[in-house]
This record gives sequence, C-alpha cells and structure tokens, in this order.
Amino acid sequence: MIHNDTFLRALRREPTPYTPIWLMRQAGRYLPEYNATRTQAGSFMALAGNPALATEVTLQPLARFPLDAAILFSDILTIPDAMGLGLSFAENEGPRFAKTTRDEAAINAIAVPDMAKLRYVFDAVAQIKRALKGSVPLIGFAGSPFTLACYMIEGGASPGFANVRRMAHARPDLLHRLVATNALAVTAYLNEQIAAGADAVMIFDTWGGLLNHDAFQRMSLATMRDVVAGLATASDGSTIPSIVFVKGGGAWLTQIAGIGASAVGLDWTVDMAAARRGVGSRVALQGNLDPEVLMTDRDTVVREASKVLHAAGPAPGHIFNLGHGIVPGTPPENVAALVEAVHRISRETRAPP
Ligand code: CP3
Repeated sequence: MIHNDTFLRALRREPTPYTPIWLMRQAGRYLPEYNATRTQAGSFMALAGNPALATEVTLQPLARFPLDAAILFSDILTIPDAMGLGLSFAENEGPRFAKTTRDEAAINAIAVPDMAKLRYVFDAVAQIKRALKGSVPLIGFAGSPFTLACYMIEGGASPGFANVRRMAHARPDLLHRLVATNALAVTAYLNEQIAAGADAVMIFDTWGGLLNHDAFQRMSLATMRDVVAGLATASDGSTIPSIVFVKGGGAWLTQIAGIGASAVGLDWTVDMAAARRGVGSRVALQGNLDPEVLMTDRDTVVREASKVLHAAGPAPGHIFNLGHGIVPGTPPENVAALVEAVHRISRETRAPP
C-alpha cells in the first residue's frame, strides 16, 4: 500500500485531488546536503554505487519538500559501464568513458551485461523502497537505447553528437546493431528494478531530438517501443506504469504517445495545451516548466507554474515536472515555492464553485 498514490493515479489518468509533482534531478547539486554526501562518498560513482548512500540522497529532497514521488538515485550510464566501457565523472566535466564504440569491431564486442554487475542499483531500489515505508511511489529509470548509444559512441558529452549522426547516415546497420543490444539491456535492467520494488519506470531519451525524422523512428522510437513492450507486469498482473521523455521530441508527440507507455514527458518548448489536444486521452502528460524559471524569483515561479497548470487543463492525467533537470545553483526556496504553488493552485482549480 502506498499512502500518497496521487502520482500513480495521475499516470492512470484517474482524478486526483491535486496535481502531483516531482522534479527531474530532484536529488542533486542544488541541495547542500547532497554536496556533503557526495564529498563524503568521494565521487559520483562511489555515491551511486553505495545503496545506503544512494538511499540517503534519494530521500533528501523528500525531507525538504512534499513531493509526490521519489526517483532512484543513480545514472543512465550504469549500463554502458557494466558493458565494460569504464565510466567516470570528472569534477564539473560530465561523464567520460575509457573506451568508445565507434567502429564495427567495437560495436560487435558489445553485449547485454550480466545483470549481477548492476546489483548495486537493484539493491538501492530495494533499500529506498524500505526507507520510504509506503509514503510515496518510487520511480526507476534507464536511458533510452539511443541516448545510451550517443554516450557510448562519443565517449562522453558532446554538443551535437556529430559522430553519432554521421553513423546514423553512413552506417545505419551498425548504429542499429548497437541500439538493438541496448534495448535488450535496458529492458532487463528496468525489469530488475521493477522486481526490486520500483512502482513506475521512466525512459530518458535526452538526445533523440538530435535525429532527423527517419532516424528517430528507427533508432530511437522503435527501440523504446520494444523496451516498453518487454516490461514486466506487477505480481497482481497489472502493468507497471511507464513514462517516456524525449527531449526535443515535440514534433513527434503523437507517435511517442503511441508506443505503449502510460505517460509522455514534455520539454519546455512544447505547449502543454496543444500536446493534450494532439494526444487526446491516450496518455498522461508530464512536465514542463523551464528549469531556468527556478533560477528567478518566487513571483515568477508561481506565475509560470500557474500557466503550465492552466495549459494542462482540468482533465485528469497531468504530472507536474520541469521540462528537463534542475539546474545546479537553483535556490531550494524556489523549489519549495513551486511545490506549494502547484499543490495549492491545482486544488483550487478542482474545488467545486
Ligand atoms: O534526482 C534524479 O533525477 C535521479 C538521479 C539522476 C541522475 N542522472 C543523477 C546525476 C537521473 C534520473 C539521471 C539521468 C541522466 N544522467 C540523464 C537523463 C536525464 C537528463 O538529464 O537528460 C543523462 C543524460 C545522464 C548522464 C549524465 N549524468 C550527465 C550528462 C551528467 C553530467 C552533467 C551533470 O548534470 O552534472 C551526469 C552526472 C549526474 N547524474 C549528476 C547527478 C546528480 C551530477 C554529478 C555530480 O554529483 O557530480
């Protein structure tokens, strides 16, 4: 039993007394207590790799704000790390892989990793579940097969992932081989998180929006459809709700809404009202406040949050979130103001006249 299941109800497009809210990267560097735990751990991977510390940082934002869901503290790049690519995070530099998969030999050498190598992630899910004591649902997550391929090919962050886009055009067979293997790995990984207790799962396609129309369909959308189709059901036979987020995917919303996920995450460029008209009542929608709004002031936060709520409209099936992760440097008091405003305004909107 989950005490506050507003988030799960909204994912099923059932009426809720208010709009649930959680925030991408809600555990992270904008919180001083996160920075303290990270320093104690020594590195990001030491933090994510230690289930007790991962539990501690997962709960930090929930201790401050009445958020309606927790998200596993981990990273999407744990899978390529378990594939043997050697992940590290240099201070303020983003992810780095010791090895890349840029040619045919390297791609042929990639296989679905033994899930035992990712045991620390599933242990963290189980430990977080126990620590939550049924207060709010726990979201598990993975990167999309294509977004993982972006980091595997480039070896780290890249402004436009040029090598990936070149491969999509020159050697689509190779890129497809890589994303197909990734899809099997992501499916197994999410199913282990579900077995360990995740109440919902989210797929982050951070870089799908870089692809042209055809390549997006083949390399990203189709492989995410395979992942969603392969998700395990709960012990009572019900489907585990899933959320698909494609940053820059505004042009393909109706297609993304058709892959079988419960919800579609929207970035801030999308008009929520138009998105709802486009997808009808097929899926829940999650989003989509520009994270930079949280870098302004309280009045702006409340006004802009209200605009998103009104664009989402009165129909059930909206989960409030940002259009991308919280920016480090965000004042925590602005996050508090946002959560309070979303709960208050959405309650008022639902109250009978
Ligand atoms: O609170 C949460 O949302 C859960 C934790 C979470 C992290 N990464 C922790 C993290 C989640 C859901 C992610 C997903 C993730 N990781 C994505 C998809 C979402 C997105 O942001 O587009 C991507 C692309 C990554 C890969 C990644 N991890 C990058 C590019 C970076 C460096 C950039 C940055 O923000 O620092 C990371 C590191 C990372 N993952 C941090 C956190 C809190 C910061 C690292 C640190 O503490 O030093």
